[in-house]
Amino acid sequence: MKKLIAGNWKMNGTAQEAENLVQAIAKGIDPALLSQSELLVCPPFVHLQMIGKVLDKRIALGAQDCSVDENGAFTGDISAAMLKQLGVQYVILGHSERRTLRGETDETVARKAALAHKHGLITIICVGEKEDEREKGIEKDVVGRQLGASVPSSANSANTVIAYEPVWAIGTGKTAMPADVQDMHAFIRKKGGNLRILYGGSMKPENAGELLKTPNVDGGLIGGASLKADQFLSIAKS
Ligand code: PGA
Repeated sequence: MKKLIAGNWKMNGTAQEAENLVQAIAKGIDPALLSQSELLVCPPFVHLQMIGKVLDKRIALGAQDCSVDENGAFTGDISAAMLKQLGVQYVILGHSERRTLRGETDETVARKAALAHKHGLITIICVGEKEDEREKGIEKDVVGRQLGASVPSSANSANTVIAYEPVWAIGTGKTAMPADVQDMHAFIRKKGGNLRILYGGSMKPENAGELLKTPNVDGGLIGGASLKADQFLSIAKS
C-alpha cells in the first residue's frame, strides 16, 4: 500500500504563503513519487476554501479539527458537514496540542470522529504518550487507553487512520528510536487491525527513510517540515 504523507500546517502561513506552498509541492510531484506515496495537506481552516480551488488534484485536502457538535449555537466552531461541503477529505482529530492545550478528552475525540465519519470524512486520530509516561514505561497503557476511547465504533480501514505521535517528539527535533516506533506500531496494529498507522514527531528528510521503512509505519504526519515544499517532497520520496 502507498504511504500517506500528511502535512499538518498548524496555525502557520498567510493565504499567499499557503498558495505558494501547495503550488511548489505540486510542481515537485513526479510519477515515481506518486507510485509510492499519497500526499495530503492540512492548512488552517481559513485557507481551506482557497486551497481547495487551487490544489493539484493529486494532493488531498484535510482540516486540523472539527466541532464535536453537528450544528447550532457553538461560537467559533466549524462542523464536519461544513468541511465536507468545501471538498475537504480528511480531518486530524485529537492532536496532542489540542489534547494538552485545549483540554480535549478521548471522549470528545470519539464524538468528533463519529460525526466526521457520518459526513464522509476520513479521520486521522492522533495518539501518543508524554515524556514522563515513557520514562515510567507506561506508554502502551496510555496509547492503548487512547485508542480504546478515542476511536468510535464507526471506524474502519476506509475512514480512519491512526497517527502515533509521541508528545515529546513533536516540534522538538527529538525522534523516537526506530525500535520503539516498530514496537509501538506493532502494538497499535494488534489493536487497530488494518487501519493505516502514521508516525509523527519531528519527521524530516534526514530520518524519514528509516522511519517509513519500519514495519507497520504506513506514512507520516509532518508538522514543521511540511511548511517547506522541498522538505515535504523529499520525505514523500524517501
Ligand atoms: P512536527 O509536528 O513534525 O513539527 O514534530 C508533527 C505533528 O504535530 O503532527
